[in-house]
Amino acid sequence: MYRSHNCGELRSSHIETEITLAGWAHKTRDKGFVVWIDLRDRYGITQLVFDEERSSKALLEKARAIGREFVLQVKGTVTERSSKNPNIPTGDIEILVSELHILNEALLPPFTIEDQTDGGEDLRMKYRYLDIRRNPVKDNLIFRSMVTMEVRKYLSGQGFIEVETPYLIKSTPEGARDFVVPSRMNQGQFYALPQSPQTFKQLLMVGGMDKYFQIVKCFRDEDLRADRQPEFTQIDCEMSFVEQEDILNAFEGLTKHLLKELKGIECEDFPRITYDEALRRFGNDKPDIRFGMEFGDLNEVAKHREFGIFNDAEIVVGIAVPGGASYTRKEIDKLVDWVRRPQVGAKGMVYVKCNEDGSYKSSVDKFYDQEDLEKWAEITNANAGDLICILSGEINATRSQLSALRMELAERLGLRKAEEFAPLWVVDFPLLELDEESGNYHAMHHPFTSPKPGQLELLDTDPGAVRANAYDLVLNGNEIGGGSIRIHDKEVQATMFRHLGFSPEEANTQFGFLMDAFQYGAPPHGGIAFGLDRLVAILGGQETIRDFIAFPKNNSGRDVMIDAPATIDDAQLEELNLKLDIRSEE
Ligand code: AMO
Repeated sequence: MYRSHNCGELRSSHIETEITLAGWAHKTRDKGFVVWIDLRDRYGITQLVFDEERSSKALLEKARAIGREFVLQVKGTVTERSSKNPNIPTGDIEILVSELHILNEALLPPFTIEDQTDGGEDLRMKYRYLDIRRNPVKDNLIFRSMVTMEVRKYLSGQGFIEVETPYLIKSTPEGARDFVVPSRMNQGQFYALPQSPQTFKQLLMVGGMDKYFQIVKCFRDEDLRADRQPEFTQIDCEMSFVEQEDILNAFEGLTKHLLKELKGIECEDFPRITYDEALRRFGNDKPDIRFGMEFGDLNEVAKHREFGIFNDAEIVVGIAVPGGASYTRKEIDKLVDWVRRPQVGAKGMVYVKCNEDGSYKSSVDKFYDQEDLEKWAEITNANAGDLICILSGEINATRSQLSALRMELAERLGLRKAEEFAPLWVVDFPLLELDEESGNYHAMHHPFTSPKPGQLELLDTDPGAVRANAYDLVLNGNEIGGGSIRIHDKEVQATMFRHLGFSPEEANTQFGFLMDAFQYGAPPHGGIAFGLDRLVAILGGQETIRDFIAFPKNNSGRDVMIDAPATIDDAQLEELNLKLDIRSEE
């Protein structure tokens, strides 16, 4: 038996008990006549003591030689500590060690295994197994496990069946590039790793599974961001004989259950807003509604003077920053610089200070009088003491710039509180999105999404206006999940592919299997997928998903610990018949 207890378990009630513990030497303190070792495992830290009075000389010497992160097994007696440590649960006791076994020695770790470590990001990624020993990372992984357990519990309680779908498949269009895998047995041919199990879950509905879910890895070759990894996990779901309302209710139920079980929060019904309204009010289809600062459309009240910049703009729009009237000129200049950074891309910013005495002072006082500015304050809901920040220009760009400013200011003002949760549904997404570069439309969600009833005809005349039965779940300004009601009719699916620029042959080669299946009695169906990594991170009060993944990739898509991707040897390339192709590239 390696241990009778773990390192987080022993209390005063165990005093005088003989125990065996195993763990890592977290810290050693040597006072000459007494040596303490903090023994650590996943469950906590227990103090070991060796002293001249009660321990043999040999044992004391052995304890002195223990290095950081050595793996130890000790036998001893639980004793009361003379100076107690109220900061840890085992702080009332210590172990008077009678036997000390070194199970394994350890090199000095390249960074300290402490909550606040001295290790930089790169070093911690390279030695991720050591990083995982630290509480913040360990706790995140434990939290993730709790979330997945609750998800499984809830969904199986609702009659969902977990079905695994294959990883070696062909392209599923979710808007990213595929990771591909060469086939040895079918030379010159490649599998694609799933960007999602989309087509398979639809086929499971044709197969009569009725309610499916899967906690599943998805693979997307796209640029990394704080909320994106090339391989990530979805809670993927599909249901038959449902309308949008049924899906929203089912997954609002799941989200409420998670908030209650994991955060102790009882939520009201989630607000629902349309995609158009989200853009109008927040400039963004994943609004953070934990705070106000909603957009005020100033088009009607800002274009009647000689101010060319506003007069030429498609949109003039502003937000009120609480307390911002006290910003100094220098602080405001910094804000202007911030919106002009290439990442944001605004040309400039107009501002209005709403003074405490009810007067206004703006950067465009030459053009607008107090009455004008008062109207702006009314529309942006600005109070005395606030600062109105106004951007103008092309509608989409301006909205996204002001949205970026809104989020940045809210962050700076501490309005994005980690322990506050504001979920909402964004519904009625456009079916298609215009790709400005190519001038072509592509599916905003994916090509299997159904247009709203009666809108199919619009595809020919005004494709951009067609709305879909598509919805996103947004939590604290993050897209947590997205889904849609699907097309289940072969002809409609063929029409959809035609509008997306597929020839009938291309549609058939890529998705013939799905359209064939639709001919054998496909039920009406729809579903959703939650990004598990994002959900866990946000419930955990953070936004960087990497910290909630055991072995994440770095910003260049590399696993620096195992050093992947890597070249493969010539024999392997030859077997795959890839060698010549690669050489010819060089
Ligand atoms: P979608 O592409 O919207 O839908 O993905 C669903 C959710 O997955 C998460 N997500 C990601 N998380 C981390 N890293 C990424 N690279 C990444 N990409 C997406 C997001 C997103 O909301 N098949 C459809 C679902 C459906 O229609 O049922 C799909 O995959 O949280």
